[in-house]
Amino acid sequence: MSVAAMVAEFDDVAGWTADAVEHLGNRYAIPAACRGSASPAALAWLAEACELSTGTTLLDVGAGVGGPAAWAAERFGVRPLLLEPMQTACRAAARLFGFTVIAADGTRIPLRTGSIDTAWCLGVLCTVDDKAALLREIHRVLKPGGSLGLLVVVARGRTRLPGPEGNHFPTQHELATLLDRTGFSLLEQTTRPDDAPLSWSRRAEQVRAAVAARHHSTHAYKLAAHQSDQLTLLFRTRQVSMQLIHAVGVDT
Ligand SMILES: C[S@@+](CC[C@H](N)C(=O)[O-])C[C@H]1O[C@@H](n2cnc3c(N)ncnc32)[C@H](O)[C@@H]1O
Repeated sequence: MSVAAMVAEFDDVAGWTADAVEHLGNRYAIPAACRGSASPAALAWLAEACELSTGTTLLDVGAGVGGPAAWAAERFGVRPLLLEPMQTACRAAARLFGFTVIAADGTRIPLRTGSIDTAWCLGVLCTVDDKAALLREIHRVLKPGGSLGLLVVVARGRTRLPGPEGNHFPTQHELATLLDRTGFSLLEQTTRPDDAPLSWSRRAEQVRAAVAARHHSTHAYKLAAHQSDQLTLLFRTRQVSMQLIHAVGVDT
């Protein structure tokens, strides 16, 4: 990933988030480390759809700082495996949750074919150029019939939106075609369930405020904040929506 704004957003801010959580306390870790805007309701929908249970191997592709995987481990007893290309984000997930993170690109996952029960990929697809390569690679490592939980920002109309740098939002039709072509059957889809409760969003906001207070004057902070503002604008003007998807791998 070479776009400076994306490096700022996914690497610099990841490290600063871990710093702020370490200062504020552990109870801030999961809300602050869910950086694909997943609320507990969204995570619960995905967890139930994928029928997570104790011992399920859950591969989180593009895991960021590890919040969703930590949530699934805490609530459902899954065995999380995280994969994330940004080095500082990998270290942040290790610092906050003690996870070992595979530092790799999702288009080249260093895991055996058919070795994973379930995969999640939350808020990642729109940041990846070769979406088909990413999905094919997830399909390869999943056991036959294994579940894939996706959180995807979908464009309502045209796909080339004036949004955050480096992002390309698929339309619903593109997304459905992509899943079909990469060996997945889309079983169920919903728009984002309810917003997070205040107990969760306040903690996330406190961490964001601590990061802003300390780093607002840096170039990386300004780049990341601009990315986030642009995405917020796309949501507010209803040019994009957040979709949760449960798909399963089928024979190709
Ligand atoms: C919006 S963040 C979401 C992070 C995390 N999934 C969450 O929900 O908190 C998108 C993440 O995708 C990662 N990413 C971008 N390109 C990727 C790729 N080719 N393979 C795997 N992850 C990628 C970024 O580094 C970033 O951590």
